[in-house]
Amino acid sequence: MRDFIVIDDLSDQEIEHIFHIADDMAGIIDSGGPCLCRDKIMATLFYEPSTRTRFSFESAMIRLGGNVIGFADSKTTSVAKGETIADTARIISDYADIIVVRHPLAGAAKVMADYADVPVINGGDDSHQHPTQTLYDLYTIHKHIGPIKGLKVGLCGDLKFGRTVHSLSYALARLGAEMVFVAPEGLEMPEYVVQRLKLKYKNEPECAERLEDVIGDLDVLYMTRIQKERLPAEMDYELVAGKYVIDKALLAKAREQMMILHPLPRVDEIAYEVDGDERAFYFRQSSYGVRVRMAITALLLGALKMPNSVPTEPPPRLISVSKRCVNPRCVMTHETYLEHKFEVVSKLLLGCAYCEEEPVDV
Ligand code: NCD
Repeated sequence: MRDFIVIDDLSDQEIEHIFHIADDMAGIIDSGGPCLCRDKIMATLFYEPSTRTRFSFESAMIRLGGNVIGFADSKTTSVAKGETIADTARIISDYADIIVVRHPLAGAAKVMADYADVPVINGGDDSHQHPTQTLYDLYTIHKHIGPIKGLKVGLCGDLKFGRTVHSLSYALARLGAEMVFVAPEGLEMPEYVVQRLKLKYKNEPECAERLEDVIGDLDVLYMTRIQKERLPAEMDYELVAGKYVIDKALLAKAREQMMILHPLPRVDEIAYEVDGDERAFYFRQSSYGVRVRMAITALLLGALKMPNSVPTEPPPRLISVSKRCVNPRCVMTHETYLEHKFEVVSKLLLGCAYCEEEPVDV
């Protein structure tokens, strides 16, 4: 039984395999096909707002011939009575064959996976990762441009609190892309991500202050919104929000073939006048979410087989220490029964086993 919690849970070969299966799933969407997951039940547990992720997973499961149960507001469940993630995981395992969870604590999906008896998929855990989003971000690039190796990809916007750019940057590094990070002051890519990119994947992205200085070099521009709901109280949303906006004038400086991606929802970082441009791929990208989620669901339910591949990343080496995670939004900080486990990233770097951030003394 396998879970999908972080992007490194899949090898490069498995990611490529998912792209092929997603192409086949497009055929099932268009003209029907075998009900690969008939009689299976997916539970979608959404403790945080969602449009695309929840509906596309539910649509994916229904198109596979399966059924869906779940909630989009945890206040209507026993969570409101104080039930832990671990206990909810055990209980839901009796009701469903696969769980998709989105949660406002970083690392919550891993806890769910540790305690559930069925496969768990991370649909986004606070600012940590969003690995299924990454799969169809990569699928869009692969389908319309080709192999990722050697491409120059700009990641722009809230690189600190945006979870999509964390899992995406690991995948791009692993697959051999070059990256440029463009973020407002205070919302730069977190140091723990930059350190991992360097130590685990030997990748050192450039950083740029102005999008107009680098846009002409990019094959792909991945725009993101400022995560207003996650900003600390002292940070002024209005000050950072208008800093990077892509409009026709800025696009005039970009290559004719540059692809614009965005995980959506957009707020005002992409002007509506850009939607009609051939380089705007974000709505197509979003539509690919269903076929890619059909593929990963069918694979984790065992309805289709993964290739016999060698993991690209060695399994993390975990140790228990009497320290706590520095991240106040980490699940370790909130669920008291959890062991304080850390991954040995290198001789000099330990990272929280749940959210990757660094340890501090208790
Ligand atoms: C993203 C998310 O939830 O992280 N949305 C999505 O799933 N496509 C991006 C965001 O909310 O900014």
